[in-house]
Amino acid sequence: MTAQPTLLFSPISIRGMTFRNRVVIAPMATYAATDGQVGDWHLVHLGGMARGGPGLVFMEATAISPEGRITYGDTGIWNDAHVPGMKRITDYLRTTGARSGIQLAHGGRKASMQRPWHGNGPMGRADFDRGETTWDIIGPTNEPAGEGWLTPQALSLADLDRLRGAYRAAARRALAAGFDVLEVHGAHGYLLHSFLSPLSNKRGDEYGGAARENRMRFPLEIAEIARAEWPADRPLFFRISAVDGVNVGWGVEDSVALALELKARGVDVVDCSTGGMILPRDAQLVSRTPGFQVPFAEAVHKAGVMSMAVGLIRDPAHAEAILCEGRADLVAIAREALYNPHWPAQAAQALGADPDWSLWPEAYGWWLKRRDRQQAAVKVA
Ligand SMILES: Cc1cc2nc3c(=O)[nH]c(=O)nc-3n(C[C@H](O)[C@H](O)[C@H](O)COP(=O)(O)O)c2cc1C
Repeated sequence: MTAQPTLLFSPISIRGMTFRNRVVIAPMATYAATDGQVGDWHLVHLGGMARGGPGLVFMEATAISPEGRITYGDTGIWNDAHVPGMKRITDYLRTTGARSGIQLAHGGRKASMQRPWHGNGPMGRADFDRGETTWDIIGPTNEPAGEGWLTPQALSLADLDRLRGAYRAAARRALAAGFDVLEVHGAHGYLLHSFLSPLSNKRGDEYGGAARENRMRFPLEIAEIARAEWPADRPLFFRISAVDGVNVGWGVEDSVALALELKARGVDVVDCSTGGMILPRDAQLVSRTPGFQVPFAEAVHKAGVMSMAVGLIRDPAHAEAILCEGRADLVAIAREALYNPHWPAQAAQALGADPDWSLWPEAYGWWLKRRDRQQAAVKVA
């Protein structure tokens, strides 16, 4: 049988790196680290995702400094001691044919919060009873993320400099750990997003306030640092919240402007998520239909910047259409991969793109191909 040509399962080259297809496993925090250290869980979890056949697997939001952890269980890369555990993961991922990526994160004023299943809000009594305590957090100003949230310390210019150093060192460690792709987390209300959005960045200096140019300054500096540290032949991604909500705060035209500035600084792909600010219900992005964030990836793509679409993409034909219609360059899945880590390989089957079952581990594909033939023979008979 000949393979059906698809865009989703055709290779793509970005800088000096080729990806076997255009399916990406989005960064997904599992909050299972101890003092930032990855362990067997992370190897098995990410290894399972990589065996499912994507072009690229992202390691979860990984803190560049201890106070940047979103929760107690975040993975970290603030210490050289974090590198060997991660290297063990990237070494394994390489054997699967998938590329590996890491998302560098700082929780900003949403750091020191609960794991989603413990409440997804500021820590409280139940968390303290579990032996977890809060830590001092930082933000563009001392305004908390929402009512009842910790009060951050407003960042001084000297603090910004320390953060630049922390991002720089984290990027170096990510390289030493063997990752192929670096992504800067600039979304979901965390530190860099909190600089971008007018809802959170009310600083009075050149790093904030009414002028978008000022609010973009620090995130763009971090992109520059990441690019300077990341080898010229390896791709750099930047995740944004393309909009804060419905007609509030940061909007899609801001995202397009940011994407162009990121591209000018050597960012290759803008990963288009949304939200993260704590907003009244009527301002939240309510429509959660399949591909609800694709229009934002499309706006970035149409402005001439490579983009990644993410958000309720579950159907292989839908993922293929997003690429064929020129709405994005890559498609990322998250929860669907939790449900079915073999989604990419199954999607390739569904689209007729992999008649030889070559996206499956050999020890699975050999059997599954024969089972398919046997079933086809039974149907004919
Ligand atoms: C378990 C879980 C953990 C997540 N952790 C992160 C993260 O570490 N960094 C990030 O940028 N987004 C994170 N997200 C958001 C996903 O990357 C993705 O954008 C979102 O789930 C929408 O895609 P989906 O509909 O395919 O799940 C997480 C989502 C889930 C379900």
